[in-house]
Amino acid sequence: MQFTRDIFATSYQNVLKPLLFTQDAERVHNNFTRFGKFLGEFGPTRSLTSVLLAYRNPVLIKIIDGVTYPNPIGLSAGFDYNGQLTQILPAVGFGFTTVGTVTLEPYEGNVPPRLDRFPRSKALLVNKGFKSLGAHAVIKKLTGLEFSIPVGISIGSTNKHFSTLKAQIEDITTTFRLFERSKVKHSYYELNISCPNTSIGQPFTDPKNLSRLLRAVVRLRIKKPVYLKMPIDLQKKHILELLDAADRSSISGVIFGNLTKDKENPAVDLRDRVLWKERKGNLSGKPTWERSNALIKLTKKHYGKRFTIIGTGGVFSGEDAKEKLRLGADLVQLITGMVYQGPQLIGEINSYLAEN
Ligand SMILES: Cc1cc2nc3c(=O)[nH]c(=O)nc-3n(C[C@H](O)[C@H](O)[C@H](O)COP(=O)(O)O)c2cc1C
Repeated sequence: MQFTRDIFATSYQNVLKPLLFTQDAERVHNNFTRFGKFLGEFGPTRSLTSVLLAYRNPVLIKIIDGVTYPNPIGLSAGFDYNGQLTQILPAVGFGFTTVGTVTLEPYEGNVPPRLDRFPRSKALLVNKGFKSLGAHAVIKKLTGLEFSIPVGISIGSTNKHFSTLKAQIEDITTTFRLFERSKVKHSYYELNISCPNTSIGQPFTDPKNLSRLLRAVVRLRIKKPVYLKMPIDLQKKHILELLDAADRSSISGVIFGNLTKDKENPAVDLRDRVLWKERKGNLSGKPTWERSNALIKLTKKHYGKRFTIIGTGGVFSGEDAKEKLRLGADLVQLITGMVYQGPQLIGEINSYLAEN
């Protein structure tokens, strides 16, 4: 309901956010996950959440690569990394959600602090490093659940040293195989080659290595769409080489994109740039907006309809989501906008998209 979303927005900005932003960011995230999981477990709490927050309209339905989305706004990888929120997110108003990034082996995450906020830059500082319960545990959590919106699984390499590239590729393909053989009712995959805060670097942003990885993934004969989660800080020529490698495979599409690690990023407030130099981690939110948009546009210009494009980075309003769609995105994802604006943002965006 518009009325309750407005009340929610005002209370979030004036009461809840000022309170939450004084607390440790990772602890707030963990508490929200626990609360969201609880709300998702019961019909009445799901219905109440939906009445208060969600906006539904058949004009928003999209069918992409054979998957039906009730609306084009999804939760980006990294928020629900162990798959605890799939039952509540439809009630919040999301049209799809990605679980993960999931890795084959469990990893407790980088040394804290793993999450912080840069409010002046409308960004989050992320230093998670693929914190994951591991593929087996996540599959166990998701098995037996019904999903009322498409759920995707983001897969990345375990955050550990590999002696060969072959072994690292095998680690990734084993996770795909585990999900393929599981009874989890997911609809698509993301292949994350662009996490900037792991100790393994980003070997698959080398086009030759990426081609090898994609050949191995294609050999699995996965029927569900696979979307490549791309970096955003590389030069245009380099990005086009990666897109060429993706084009030579049967990959369905690309996601632009991941966090920014560019410490000279002009969208970062000067005072935050000084702070960032002393901290580990990379930024989400508004500092990713321009680059994500430029790369969506570039992909559309060079590849037309070849790739499904998912636009991610700095979406804080209906106008922002509309801009990503206008530039060529088929679907839009977000995290940081919801943290800064409140959970009613998803309904607000969908209501805006339906009317504009
Ligand atoms: C706390 C946090 C954790 C993230 N973890 C992942 C991850 O595990 N895998 C991934 O592909 N992207 C991850 N990301 C990147 C987001 O999926 C997204 O690409 C990026 O934050 C830009 O969108 P936003 O500005 O709406 O947050 C993470 C982002 C945040 C804020």
